[in-house]
Amino acid sequence: MFFSLPPSISLLSFLLLHPTHAYKPLSNTFLRAIPSPGADIDWRNGSLLAPLLVPRVPGTPGQATAQHHFVNYFQTELPNWSLEWQNSSSRTPVSGGAELPFANFIAKREPPWVKPGQANLLTLVAHYDSKYQPEGFIGAIDSAAPCAMLMYVARVVDAYVQRMYDEMQALDEGGTVEMDMGVQILFLDGEEAFGEEWNDEDSLYGARALAQQWSTSKNPASAKFYNYRTPLNQISLFLLLDLLGAANPSIPSYFPTTHWAYLALSNIEARMRSLDLLESSPAQSFLSDGNGTVGAHAQISDDHLPFISKGVDVLHVIPRDFPSVWHTLDDDGAHLDMSTVRDWGKIVAAFALEWLDMMEVWDEPEGTRQQKRWS
Ligand SMILES: *[C@@H]1O[C@H](CO)[C@@H](O)[C@H](O)[C@H]1NC(C)=O
Ligand SMILES: *[C@@H]1O[C@H](CO)[C@@H](O)[C@H](O)[C@H]1NC(C)=O
Ligand SMILES: *[C@@H]1O[C@H](CO)[C@@H](O)[C@H](O)[C@H]1NC(C)=O
Ligand SMILES: *[C@@H]1O[C@H](CO)[C@@H](O)[C@H](O)[C@H]1NC(C)=O
Ligand SMILES: [Zn+2]
Repeated sequence: MFFSLPPSISLLSFLLLHPTHAYKPLSNTFLRAIPSPGADIDWRNGSLLAPLLVPRVPGTPGQATAQHHFVNYFQTELPNWSLEWQNSSSRTPVSGGAELPFANFIAKREPPWVKPGQANLLTLVAHYDSKYQPEGFIGAIDSAAPCAMLMYVARVVDAYVQRMYDEMQALDEGGTVEMDMGVQILFLDGEEAFGEEWNDEDSLYGARALAQQWSTSKNPASAKFYNYRTPLNQISLFLLLDLLGAANPSIPSYFPTTHWAYLALSNIEARMRSLDLLESSPAQSFLSDGNGTVGAHAQISDDHLPFISKGVDVLHVIPRDFPSVWHTLDDDGAHLDMSTVRDWGKIVAAFALEWLDMMEVWDEPEGTRQQKRWS
């Protein structure tokens, strides 16, 4: 069973969940104004990335270190995001019958006027656990660097989201799918397998628990016809970053249903390169391989699986060829290509801003400002 909803509801949600096709591309001046993550994402001492470059195996102190890092960052720098944990526990092949704790971190920014279940949420995802073996494994591309990128993205979008919500609220607006847009960041736990052989029971612990919980908990009923029945239905796009941070990545478009979103991301990269806003100079653009197929992707097991099998739209940003350091002790801070890491941060930040239609609150330095859609 691929879709969990009856066909009529699926079609209705399809029609209602895709208003964002209509968003306006960010202007060149807006793209130029997106700051670089700069030193915050330095692997030696950067405030966002360095604290994550320790082993982060579930049930060990490194897991708690990463958790405190996330909470501390949002509480001190982004206090208007709501924070939540989704916890579960499970036996693993190496825990000798004991249950290990898995904790998914959820940071959410919704319009202040929405009721529970009303907002549609751009969902940015990476896993924060690291692999049990080899001992001492750090997992910088897998996926400390993607987590740090998303922390940076949260900071970039925050100021614009604040202004958009403030302006719309002042106008007493809100209440349509286009206006009730928010963003959430998921740092998922327990992606990695513990045993020698990856299998469906020994992997994706956090993602499976969250997809299960979100698909079975019902949002409060409401008269609003566009309300989403479950938290899972509120995900407008599940954008999963994984294995990013090595030089020269090549990311194909894996799913026909989100090919349009892949093209939007690819287009942002191309525009930023042509405006000379990126630092890396790869042999080819990161996102220039539009010919990936579902067949080629069938082997890639990752945190999107429990969600896509329940009908969620997924954009999977993972290289077709895994970097050479993958699952080795060399996957550490020193092997990251820092210009590639910083460029990913900027590309994903621009994509999120565009998705959230932030041209609505962008003041062009010269020229006329477009009329707001809600005025
Ligand atoms: C971080 O490390 C780099 C490289 O060693 C150094 O140049 C920089 O000054 C350090 N920054 C801070 C804030 O310590
Ligand atoms: C948080 O939201 C409130 C209400 O909209 C606003 O007044 C305040 O400036 C926001 N805080 C930050 C840090 O953006
Ligand atoms: C869930 O896990 C987090 C991180 O370990 C912890 O801080 C929190 O208290 C847990 N929540 C519950 C309800 O157990
Ligand atoms: C896909 O492959 C075709 C044929 O090789 C090529 O002409 C086209 O440019 C490719 N498209 C993308 C987006 O890479
Ligand atoms: Zn891995």
